[in-house]
Amino acid sequence: MSNYHIKHLEEYYQVYRKSIREPENFWEEVAEEHFMWRKKWDKVLSWDFSKPEVKWFEGAQLNITENCIDRHLTTRGDKTAILFEPNSADEPAQHITYKDLYKRVNKFANVLKAQGITKGDRVCIYLPMIPELAVSVLACARIGAIHSVVFAGFSSSALATRINDSDCKMVITSDGSYRGAKSIDLKGIVDDALEDCPGVESVLVAKRIHSEVVMKEGRDLWLQPLLDEASEDCRAEVMNAEDPLFILYTSGSTGKPKGMVHTTAGYMVYTAYTFKNVFQYREEDIYWCTADVGWITGHSYIVYGPLANGATSVMFEGVPSFPDFGRFWEIVEKHKVTQFYTAPTAIRALAKEGVGYLEKYDLSSVKVLGTVGEPINEEAWHWYDDNVGKKKAPIVDTWWQTETGGIMITPIPFVTPTKPTYATLPFIGIQPALMDENGQEIKGNQVDGRLCIKFPWPSMARTIWGDHQRYKDTYFSAYENKYFTGDGALRDEVGYYRITGRVDDVIIVSGHNLGTAPIEDAINEHPAVSESAIVGFPHDIKGNALYGYVTLKEFGETRDHNNLRKEINQVITEQIGPIAKLDKIQFTAGLPKTRSGKIMRRILRKIASKDTSNLGDTSTLLNPEVVQDIIDNAL
Ligand code: WTA
Repeated sequence: MSNYHIKHLEEYYQVYRKSIREPENFWEEVAEEHFMWRKKWDKVLSWDFSKPEVKWFEGAQLNITENCIDRHLTTRGDKTAILFEPNSADEPAQHITYKDLYKRVNKFANVLKAQGITKGDRVCIYLPMIPELAVSVLACARIGAIHSVVFAGFSSSALATRINDSDCKMVITSDGSYRGAKSIDLKGIVDDALEDCPGVESVLVAKRIHSEVVMKEGRDLWLQPLLDEASEDCRAEVMNAEDPLFILYTSGSTGKPKGMVHTTAGYMVYTAYTFKNVFQYREEDIYWCTADVGWITGHSYIVYGPLANGATSVMFEGVPSFPDFGRFWEIVEKHKVTQFYTAPTAIRALAKEGVGYLEKYDLSSVKVLGTVGEPINEEAWHWYDDNVGKKKAPIVDTWWQTETGGIMITPIPFVTPTKPTYATLPFIGIQPALMDENGQEIKGNQVDGRLCIKFPWPSMARTIWGDHQRYKDTYFSAYENKYFTGDGALRDEVGYYRITGRVDDVIIVSGHNLGTAPIEDAINEHPAVSESAIVGFPHDIKGNALYGYVTLKEFGETRDHNNLRKEINQVITEQIGPIAKLDKIQFTAGLPKTRSGKIMRRILRKIASKDTSNLGDTSTLLNPEVVQDIIDNAL
C-alpha cells in the first residue's frame, strides 16, 4: 500500500496531509494492513493532554513478538534477523535467522517463567551488546514482562537506583563484557548494586568473557544450562494495546532519572512504520544501527522496528576504534551494509582520524546514512556525505527522544531534499509547533522558538513509572495542550526544522543526555566540596563537554587541586558512570547567585564557552564580585 512506503515528495505531502486531517483513519489503515492482531481495536485514539492521557488502538490485543518473529517464519524463516558482529574482528559473526530467533526467544521466555516471572513483572537487563540482550528483551515481551534495559556503562549506584525505582524482581546480566581491548566486570557491578536492592529475587548470568565470578547461592543462576533444558515453544501472552512494553530511563534536568513507560500497540506501529520509510528499507537490505540497545535508539531501531519489518539488523558489540579506526568500515564492507545509522559524536571522532581508514574499504553498498542523538555540525555532515556516502547516500538527520519512542522530524531519503544540519520536515502524523516565551505559537517561516508537538502520535511515552504528576509537570505544563520537548528549534524559509539544542539543564555529551542535578549531587558528596554547578561547553568531538565550578568547604584548602579533581571525577564515575566525568573543574570562592539563591548558570555557561563579552547585568546578583574572579581564573 502506498501509504506504507513513501516514494516521492509529492506523495510525502499527500500522505502527511491525510495523516493530519484524518489521523485516526490514517493510523488505522497502517495498523490494519501491516500487523498481526489477536483482536482489532474498538477505538483508534483517545487523548487529553491536560491529564495527560493518550490511548491508541484501545481494545486491541496482540503480542509484539508475534509481529517481530512468528509471522516471518513462513516467508523469511531462514533469513538473518540479527547479524551479530563481535568485539574482536577475529571472532566470526553470527547469523541468527528468524527461525533461530524464534527458538532462542521462546527458550529464554520459558526460563523467565520457570523463575517465576509473570505478566507485568519488571525485569532489569544489564547486558553488553551480545545476542542475549536482544533475545532477553524479546523474551520479556513474549510473556508480558516489562523490560527495563540499563546501559551497561552505568555504575552500580546508577543501576541500583533504576532497579529500585521500578521494583525489578530479576536482573539479567553477563559475567563481563568486552569493549575494545578492555574487559569489564559486569557481574561485579551488579553484585555491588544488589547490596541496595532488596526486591531482586534472582539474577541470570550469561557467559561472555569466561571470567571468574562469584555466584550468590539462591540468587544467581548461569543462564546457559537453563536455556539448554527449556522448551522451544512458548505461547505468546496476549497483551492489551496499552499494556506497558518497557521502561527506559532518561535523565531529567532535576531529580532522579525518569522511567519512561512505553506501551505495546502504538509503539509497534510507529517504530515499524518509521523504520520502513526513514531508511527506505527493502527486503534484501542489511541495516546497521551502531547504537547500544541500552538506549532508545537501540530499542526502536535495532530491535523492534527492524524486526517488525522482517529486516536483517546488525548488532555490533565493539567500539569504532578497535582494533583501529577502520572497524566500522570493515564491517560495512564485510556485511555489505545498506543503511548505516550512527551518532554525530562518532562521526566527529572518525573524521578526526582522516580518510585513510575509509579508503581501505569498499563502501559502495551504502544507500542511506543516518544520524541521531544531538545536532550535527556542518563540518561533520559534509565529512559524512563526502567520504562515507560519496555524495550518493542521502543523510537522514533524525530528531527524536526517548520520550517520543520513534523518529519525529527527519528527511525521507530520496524523497526530501536534505540540507546540512537540518532535520528538515516532520514525519507523517507529527505536528510540531514553535512556541514563544509567552506561550504563544509562532506561525510562519524563518522563526525560532521552543519545540512542542500539538497532537498525539502512536509511540509517545504514556507516563513516568510511578510518577504521573512528574510526567505532566515536565512535558505538558509549560504550554497548554502541547507536549514540550525541552529542545529549541528554528524553521527556515521552506519550513525545514533545525534543532538548536536543549533549552533546559540537560546537557548532551557524546549523544548521552546528562542532567546537571544528579552530577552536582554526586560532586557534593565529596567531603571537601561545599557546592557545585555544572554547565556544558563546546567540544570538537563530544559536541559538548562538562565544565564544573566547585566551591570547597575551605577555599584555602591546601590539598593538591589536581588530586581533588581526580577524586571528584572518581565520585562521579561511581555514582553515575564514566560518561558523566568532567573535562574541566574550576575551584572558585563562590557561585554567582540571584537574590533568591538560584545559581546563574547562564553566566557560568558563557564563561565556560569563553564568551565573556556580554554577560548582561550582573549587578543585581547576590554576590557580583565572584564573577570577575571566576573569569580571571577560568580554565
Ligand atoms: C537531542 C535519542 C539534534 C535532542 C533518540 C533531544 C537531537 C535529545 C537529534 C533526546 C538530532 C536527538 N538533532 N538534536 N537529530 N536527535 N537530539 O532521549 O536534544 O537520548 O531532546 O533520544 O537528543 O535524546 P534521547
